[in-house]
Amino acid sequence: MNHRPVDGFSKLSKQRKIDWLISEYLYEDRSYEQILQQYWNNDPDLQKLHEEFSENTISNFYMPYGIAPNFLIDGRLLALPMAVEESSVVAAASKSAKFWLHKGGFKTTIINTKKLGHTHFIMEVEPHKLQHFFNFKLKQKLFDATQEITANMRKRGGGILNIRLIDKTAEMPHYFQLKASFDTVDSMGANFINSVLEQFGKTLKEEVNNDEDFTTQEKDSLQIVMNILSNYTPDCIVRAEVSCKIEELNDDSGISNEEFATKFKRAVSIAEIEPFRATTHNKGIMNGVDAVVIATGNDFRATEACAHAYAAKDGQYKSLTHCTIDNGLFRFWIDLPISVGVVGGLTNLHPLVKFSLALLGKPSAKELMSILAVSGLAQNFAALRSLVTTGIQKGHMKMHLFNILNQMGATEEEKQHFVTYFKDKTVTHHEVIAELNRLRN
Ligand code: MEV
Repeated sequence: MNHRPVDGFSKLSKQRKIDWLISEYLYEDRSYEQILQQYWNNDPDLQKLHEEFSENTISNFYMPYGIAPNFLIDGRLLALPMAVEESSVVAAASKSAKFWLHKGGFKTTIINTKKLGHTHFIMEVEPHKLQHFFNFKLKQKLFDATQEITANMRKRGGGILNIRLIDKTAEMPHYFQLKASFDTVDSMGANFINSVLEQFGKTLKEEVNNDEDFTTQEKDSLQIVMNILSNYTPDCIVRAEVSCKIEELNDDSGISNEEFATKFKRAVSIAEIEPFRATTHNKGIMNGVDAVVIATGNDFRATEACAHAYAAKDGQYKSLTHCTIDNGLFRFWIDLPISVGVVGGLTNLHPLVKFSLALLGKPSAKELMSILAVSGLAQNFAALRSLVTTGIQKGHMKMHLFNILNQMGATEEEKQHFVTYFKDKTVTHHEVIAELNRLRN
């Protein structure tokens, strides 16, 4: 069937949108409408709140919201809120938290908190001439022109830290940047940074036009390409680490502490030199980071983009975590670039986000950075611990068992049977189906 395009979809009521979808794509099958309605909240105000987060909303998409307790972070015991659909992530986090609880817990350090943004522009001008104009005329004007936009942020202790002119003409003809760094305190700062940069673009245009040292040709050549923050924040880094004496590792997998430490370190080293492994290794880290990022109302696409760009900063994609064994001391850490906020965005709007932040003791943005790095490190520790000992499938499939059973429409009684059945066996899809058939016959 060929579908017809629609005009003014966003202006239709929710019901009219659904009617149109059902007639255009779903063969008039009204059971699909019930699926959407099942997820509407009974409280009309709460439903409206969620619908207004985004355009063209027709239902809500649930994700499990779980808790990983027992995280000792810089001496404070926290329970981490995690929004994630992958069945083993919360269990892995909880296991790691417990493992490190009586070994000093997780320690974190904020290395720096600078955010960046650029006005990208083209100008057919001698770079030295432009640099001179920037140093002696433009730079101060950029600060002056954004006084109003930055007033509130300055009151909170942040604002524009510095502005530089960057000559990119060796990489693209006539391409320059105004590169600005910012302190956005407790906000992620995307709207603030973009508003400042858009003013930079306007001021640049005005000041070039009013400057008598530029020729008409130079003035006419100026094109502001775009003004936008960078989600790559290599100067907004938090370090989280764990360490203990090898004899304190006490892994329960049946191998010696020394062997465990050596195998673990080797697995990290492989992710430091092999991009295929590093991608999966870092994906596992982001399982932990994103789940808390989402639960605290932050932007997981931004954190993903930044982490992976940072992992490739030396020209080859590498592990974000590192491990050393020195003089009998096992040390495992992550340097995570991450820009998040605890004010603005969804933080004051989404009731579950408010819950998450309250649960975490209303952290500052820096404290949230620490918690996120710990969540990533813990997740990576749990994954590597399984990978170098029992293999990943044992724990993974144990958590996935209920997904398979639900798919097969298993009853509560049948589910209980399977919990006992797999107590001392590794769960496989094949074995679940075979045992279910035996049971039902
Ligand atoms: C699965 O979501 C994540 C892992 O593959 C991570 C890893 O291999 O390190 C288990």
